[in-house]
Amino acid sequence: MRVLCAASSLGWDAKKKHAEMFHRFSRFILVFQGPEPLAENLVAFSMFRFENEEEYCVLYCYELQVKEEMRGMGIGRCLMNVLECIGSEWRMQKLMLTVLKANKNAVKFYATVGFQIDASSPTNFGYKEDYEILSRVLEEEDFDFDEAPPNTNH
Ligand SMILES: CC(C)(COP(=O)(O)OP(=O)(O)OC[C@H]1O[C@@H](n2cnc3c(N)ncnc32)[C@H](O)[C@@H]1OP(=O)(O)O)[C@@H](O)C(=O)NCCC(=O)NCCS
Repeated sequence: MRVLCAASSLGWDAKKKHAEMFHRFSRFILVFQGPEPLAENLVAFSMFRFENEEEYCVLYCYELQVKEEMRGMGIGRCLMNVLECIGSEWRMQKLMLTVLKANKNAVKFYATVGFQIDASSPTNFGYKEDYEILSRVLEEEDFDFDEAPPNTNH
């Protein structure tokens, strides 16, 4: 990803990337293989934030990475589904992300798992940028946050 970003209009600045990753609004999903959540067992992760994009409340996926030898097994799709569930439960209207056009594998992956070019993407304004903003509309979950979870003693 570093190589792709460095060659793009987004650029690569390690300090900026670190600040973005570990911003206090960043949230992570980590996928481990095996019983121990050890760094060497980490096989995939996603970093996301709850944000406002124009008039929409969105869950913005900043990072999605699956270890090379674990790709093609459905982990990426599964992570996207988990993001969708989280977004729906928190009443977000869209799941959004930015993808570099040069990242052909990711472009194909996102199309397969149901993303479309978002109305806010530069393409829709006739701009020829090297990235695309994609989104998937989220359905509202019928979830009552005031309701006590089942099987709790109170
Ligand atoms: C993109 C990435 C997250 C996909 O994760 P993955 O676990 O390999 O994807 P999955 O196995 O869940 O694939 C889900 C679907 O997408 C399709 N797909 C995945 N990669 C694809 C590719 N390169 N070309 C065509 N289709 C692809 C799969 O065939 C699958 O379709 P199916 O369920 O109908 O069989 C992974 O390749 C990756 O980490 N890439 C490097 C980091 C990256 O580019 N991240 C995105 C930054 S925007």
